[in-house]
Amino acid sequence: MNLKKYFCGREIDRMPDIAFKMMSFLFKIMDIFYPFEKRIAGLGLKEGFTVVDYGCGPGRYIDKVSRLVGETGKVYAVDIHELAISSVKKKIEKYDLKNVEPVLVDGYSCDIEDNAADVIYALDMFHMIKEPVLFLKELRRIVKKDGFLIIDDGHQARKNTKVKLTGSDLWTIAEETKDHLKCVPV
Ligand SMILES: C[S@@+](CC[C@H](N)C(=O)[O-])C[C@H]1O[C@@H](n2cnc3c(N)ncnc32)[C@H](O)[C@@H]1O
Repeated sequence: MNLKKYFCGREIDRMPDIAFKMMSFLFKIMDIFYPFEKRIAGLGLKEGFTVVDYGCGPGRYIDKVSRLVGETGKVYAVDIHELAISSVKKKIEKYDLKNVEPVLVDGYSCDIEDNAADVIYALDMFHMIKEPVLFLKELRRIVKKDGFLIIDDGHQARKNTKVKLTGSDLWTIAEETKDHLKCVPV
């Protein structure tokens, strides 16, 4: 098995279970050196927000994001991998998270209603998306008209991220930092 391809490769539908487990283990180590506060601080999450963590993986920040949006907020944790969903479910139980809903997505249509999200964040996953237009269209469907998307490059060049975003004609890049692009619906 070419693990590099599964961790860093492009356009994967669903990684093998062993790769997902190894990735989750590596995240635990990475989080010691680059904790939640640094990665999430710039996402613009606020109390009362409905937030979608798209491609949530093992849900490494889900308890903290849940507390950040508070009782009046909501967090949807979306992933294409069953192990991601079971990991999020374990965290919901462990931390008694009442405002988190795991959503297993199949392809590019998730079970979240239209115009639901104040913020969608999709971290370290855009490079895996085979059909960026379908993906971005789905994100556009679930975001509020005045909501926004925070996306990063994952394992692709910034140039490619931008080409996919602007080429979709669905999102405008409103702000850009080294770590993220903030996009608003067209
Ligand atoms: C490298 S992990 C990043 C996890 C998390 N965002 C983080 O930064 O800790 C990428 C995640 O995106 C998920 N993913 C890949 N393609 C997806 C798709 N089309 N829809 C939803 N999730 C997807 C993978 O299953 C994996 O859990």
